Amino acid sequence: MRHLLSTSELSRDAAIDLLDISEDMAAVADRENKKLPTLRGKTVVNLFFEDSTRTRISFEAAAKRLSADVINFSAKGSSVSKGESLKDTAQTLSAMGADAVVIRHGASGAPAVLAASGWIDAGIINAGDGTHEHPTQALLDAFTMRRRLHGAGSRGKGLDGVSVTIVGDIVHSRVARSNVWLLKTLGAEVRLVAPATLLPVAVHTWPVTVDYDLDHALGESAPDVIMMLRIQQERMNQAFFPNPREYSNVWGLSNARWIGLPATTLVMHPGPMNRGLEISSAAADSPQSTILEQVANGVSVRMATLYTVLTGNREVHA
Ligand code: CP
Repeated sequence: MRHLLSTSELSRDAAIDLLDISEDMAAVADRENKKLPTLRGKTVVNLFFEDSTRTRISFEAAAKRLSADVINFSAKGSSVSKGESLKDTAQTLSAMGADAVVIRHGASGAPAVLAASGWIDAGIINAGDGTHEHPTQALLDAFTMRRRLHGAGSRGKGLDGVSVTIVGDIVHSRVARSNVWLLKTLGAEVRLVAPATLLPVAVHTWPVTVDYDLDHALGESAPDVIMMLRIQQERMNQAFFPNPREYSNVWGLSNARWIGLPATTLVMHPGPMNRGLEISSAAADSPQSTILEQVANGVSVRMATLYTVLTGNREVHA
C-alpha cells in the first residue's frame, strides 16, 4: 500500500491485514517497552490544515512508537497564512526528507491531489479531507467493533452480519463515508438515520438502508452498534443548523433511548462530542460506550497504517 486515501480502495483482504497488524501493534502497547525499531531513520510529517486533537496526537504517538522521526506542521502559524500554496508547502517538506505525509485538509480531495502530483515522493495518508473521507478513523472503529464483538484474538475475521446504525450529520461527515465503504467491505449491515437535511443527495446510491426517524429505526431491531456523529456546525450555513432542542429530542441518543438499548449494543462516537446534543453524558460514559477505547485503538491502527505504507509489508517483521 503506497498511500491510504480512502477506505473504498481497500480490498477485504487488505482491510483485514490492517486490522491484524493493528492487533500486533496493540500487543506492543501492552509491553513495558512500547517501542519497535521498525521505522528508525524514516521521517513522518503531520501536515494539519484543520484542527485536530485525537488524530494528530495519535499519529505522532504511533510514529514515535515505531522509532520514526516526527515533524508536526500546523497551518496556523505557518507560511500558509502568508499565502503559500499546497504545492510549495509539499515541496518544502520533500526537501526536508519526508517519507510519509499525514495530511488533514479542509478541501475534499487534497490528499489525492498530493499523492498524484509528483510534488513529493512520500506515502500520503489521509487524516480527514473536507467532507470526503477519514480512513484511519473508520479502521479504528472497525478494529474496536471486531475486538469488542469477536475478542482480541479475532485475526482474519471481518464484521460479517454485524448491524451498525450511524446517526446524525451524515452529509458533512467524512467519518460516515469512510465507515460506510469499509463496513460494507467487511460484511456489516449499515443503516443511516438522520433528518433529510443532513443526508447527502446521493445517499440512495450507497450500500445502506436509510431511516429518518431514530425511534422507528431502533424499534425495528436493536443494532449491534450505534455510532453517533457530531453536528458539524462549522460546516453549516446557519439556515441549515437544526434547532438543538428539537434535534436532541428526535435524533439524539438521550438517556431514555440509551436505557432502551440492550446492554450488548456498543455506543460509539468518533469525537469530539457535543454532549447533550447528539449524545447524553450517561450514554457517552456508560460501560457499553467504546469512545475512549476508540481513542486508544487509534494509536495501534495508525502504527499499522504507517508501518504498511512505509514498509509495504502485509505482516509485521519487527
Ligand atoms: N475523530 C477525530 O478525527 O478527532 P480529531 O478531530 O480530534 O482528530
